[in-house]
Amino acid sequence: MKFSGTMKNVDGVLEIGGVSVTDLKNEFGTPLYIYDLEGMEKKIRDLKSGFTSKKFKTNIVYASKAYLSKGMAQFIEKFGLHIDAVSGGELETIFSADFQRDKIHMHGNNKSLDEIEMCVENSIGSIILDNRDEIDRVGEVCKKFKKNMDVMLRLNIGIDAHTHEYIKTAKHNSKFGESIFDTEIDEIVKKIINREELNFLGFHCHIGSQIFDEMAFCEGVYTMVKFTKEMSQKFNIEIPDINIGGGFGVRYTEEDTDVDLKKLMKKIIDCIENTLEEEEFNIQNVWIEPGRSIVAAAGSTLYTVGGEKKTFGGEKYIFIDGGMTDNIRTALYSAKYESVVANKLNETKKEVVSLAGKCCESGDVIIKNARLAKCSLNDLILVSCTGAYGHSMSSNYNKALKPAVVFVKDKKSYLISRRETYQDLLSTELDFLLEVE
Ligand code: LLP
Repeated sequence: MKFSGTMKNVDGVLEIGGVSVTDLKNEFGTPLYIYDLEGMEKKIRDLKSGFTSKKFKTNIVYASKAYLSKGMAQFIEKFGLHIDAVSGGELETIFSADFQRDKIHMHGNNKSLDEIEMCVENSIGSIILDNRDEIDRVGEVCKKFKKNMDVMLRLNIGIDAHTHEYIKTAKHNSKFGESIFDTEIDEIVKKIINREELNFLGFHCHIGSQIFDEMAFCEGVYTMVKFTKEMSQKFNIEIPDINIGGGFGVRYTEEDTDVDLKKLMKKIIDCIENTLEEEEFNIQNVWIEPGRSIVAAAGSTLYTVGGEKKTFGGEKYIFIDGGMTDNIRTALYSAKYESVVANKLNETKKEVVSLAGKCCESGDVIIKNARLAKCSLNDLILVSCTGAYGHSMSSNYNKALKPAVVFVKDKKSYLISRRETYQDLLSTELDFLLEVE
């Protein structure tokens, strides 16, 4: 496993943020999500220093779906970043952190009336309209609250980025956005411009997630700028903003490239500046929405070994006390991860094992064929790079309790979410009292 951020081998035991994993296990139990604050800070600094331009203002929105908690929202706000949400639940979590309202932006392809009202009542920064139906829906809510709302329109720009099928978002049949090739696209834009309560900022796109191909982003920028210019001329209005989404790739294993975020940002800025120059067009604000690239590598999951099994077929399993309930990505996307026996770092003898969780599901394997030091009962296994879409996609399958989340830095640990309890699980349950014959 490649160490990242502040990970250190101290006498064979892994330390993150100066705190040993054995201490973390003793204090918070396992499974445990651990976030290295310095790791996240470095990513934010790289994004901020790379994504700047003299030609337009740049804005970074943290895509909170990657990992969100009240503490995370408070952490993000300290860096002056904006934040987005795609549901009432995410909004409510962000509100609970007392996040500056005008730095909150709302996404979603099927926003409920309640969710739209939450946005308008709380005067959030903007709503990204996904489709034509939302124009009047948002307009009417604004009318009811006698407020105006800044909006963008999410476009499907038809770029087939090279990533997993499930996380591509700009193919022609994607459920997100309105296609720039739709014959009614002009009418849709016109309708937004004409809706009095809506202040049209510009266009948004997001071509997909875990993308390494710089050219896909540049192609996206080119398409967005050209389309924005066309609409600006057609309707004779100034369109001040474009948002090119997130999706910047992250190294999970040696099969992935190690991305230099600062360099990638500079490259994207170059693409935008060059395209604007070629098109003789101006944009005032350019937005990006990184999620994974901020949190993935800074996050790890710590498990305790409960046992092992050598199958008749020859496969050796190590049983860990979590599984697909805290990380569904292997089962869902065939995602790959690296791991170590975190209390036996100096052990050189390795064996090939599969890390299986405790769910009633054969696919509940976090890593297949991991090369690990020989481990035994109560050893600690750390799976790295689980910070994005691990906690946020966790579930209570088999009534598993969701793990605690802890932030670490400078030898200190900060509990951000406590482990769920059986009482939490039962807190929504009601009696069924009907008599049956
Ligand atoms: N903006 C929009 C509109 C998005 O839909 C997404 C991700 C992002 C930004 C952030 O993308 P990121 O920088 O995190 O790649 N569950 C999947 C990923 C789904 C991504 C959904 N949208 C996974 O675990 O890989």
